[in-house]
Amino acid sequence: MFKSYHKLILSTVLVASTATTAVFAKYADASRTYTNGKKVIDGGSTYPVKSNKTSAYHVNTKADKGGFSFGRKPTANEIKAWDIDVMPDGTGLPEGKGTVEEGDEIYEEKCSACHFDFGTGGSGYPALQKGNAYEGQKSLTNQRVGGNDEGPMRVFGTYWPHASTLWWYIKTGMPHPAPMSLTNDEVYALVAYIVSINELKIDGEELDDEYELNREKFLKIVMPNKDGFIPKIDGPKGLENVRKFFNDFKNYGNGTRCMKNCFNGKPVLARISGSGISDYEPPITTKRSMPAAKEGAAEAPGKKTYEASCAVCHATDAMGAPPVGNKKAWAAVLEKGIDKVYHNAINGKGGMPPKGGTSLADDKIKEVINYMVGASK
Ligand code: HEC
Ligand code: HEC
Repeated sequence: MFKSYHKLILSTVLVASTATTAVFAKYADASRTYTNGKKVIDGGSTYPVKSNKTSAYHVNTKADKGGFSFGRKPTANEIKAWDIDVMPDGTGLPEGKGTVEEGDEIYEEKCSACHFDFGTGGSGYPALQKGNAYEGQKSLTNQRVGGNDEGPMRVFGTYWPHASTLWWYIKTGMPHPAPMSLTNDEVYALVAYIVSINELKIDGEELDDEYELNREKFLKIVMPNKDGFIPKIDGPKGLENVRKFFNDFKNYGNGTRCMKNCFNGKPVLARISGSGISDYEPPITTKRSMPAAKEGAAEAPGKKTYEASCAVCHATDAMGAPPVGNKKAWAAVLEKGIDKVYHNAINGKGGMPPKGGTSLADDKIKEVINYMVGASK
């Protein structure tokens, strides 16, 4: 699905929305008010949970162990409906038409709540226009993360190399609460509107209200940053710059680099309750302490290796691994007998890579498992 790089930049969005679409498609017409009568401010759907309560997420009440407990598996046909490619050369771009004015109306109704008037963004939602910010803009050089004035602003008009991404993105991802609900004509109208508020011309023509965009005209859009999107790192000097850039932690991180004694409090993890929905109290996170350090536990064989090689996945259930310290989860794992558990961990199982991705000897792995089991009693 993510064949081209213009989609890669947005793949995180698609992954997030693919998981929820199926659900939204089914409930797209569900009540737009909470059961307490309050309106849903983002225009999204609400889902029944239990005892007359509702939530903004579809909670799978049938799931009784592990995972996030919402959503369901998409059907083969749903996957087919979502496997849409729209390429810069027009491959996959359907026929259709829409005017700037129509786009303006749809925008007011379905997009402005989040992207604000004229796409000016705000409240954490991305801006869809940045006026004439691309005047005198520089190419993307070393600037890949964070924003600074070395590179173009990261909005559609100034940053994106191809307009096809916009068409595809709106069609498959927007409006956020009900992706795949727009017709092709509506998408053309919205694209026309967004191109107009970015003050881009098509074939030398300005887009006034009556301007009607269609497939043929769409393919004539030339993005101002089309040559500046790919970092210029050719030549010895370029690569050196990139190295220098990434060697300076401040360019992409917050705070300071820290390798030891970084934390001197008691670690507290927030986790989404995964095992069984008894009732629903938003937000569905609970605070949980790390397993209590037992007397002399520092010397426990396997502990060091656990921390170095396994904790990355086993400290919480976020990766689907049984979390160390969770009695119930480990009781379920151990039901099949310890020898089978050793075997699974050594040979891999589901999201568990063989030996947790290490090259430790079998005996050493068993020692680590014994530690994990002991810390989860
Ligand atoms: C409920 C809020 C919401 C609504 C309504 C909504 N969007 Fe979005 N939109 C978002 C969020 C959040 C993102 C960023 C998603 C991300 O990066 O994970 C986004 C991203 C986008 C982007 C990509 C921007 C960029 O530079 O990456 C476009 C284009 C877009 N929306 C267009 C639309 C259009 C057109 C509509 C109306 C049909 C619409 N959106 C309705 C929340 C919304
Ligand atoms: C990349 C993430 C990851 C790492 C690293 C990892 N695990 Fe796992 N582990 C998992 C997942 C996910 C499961 C659940 C697999 C399933 O049930 O499908 C799991 C399951 C297990 C189980 C239970 C197997 C069973 O029979 O159900 C054991 C034991 C285990 N891991 C030990 C280890 C040890 C020891 C290490 C470090 C050497 C380690 N893991 C590192 C992700 C990981």
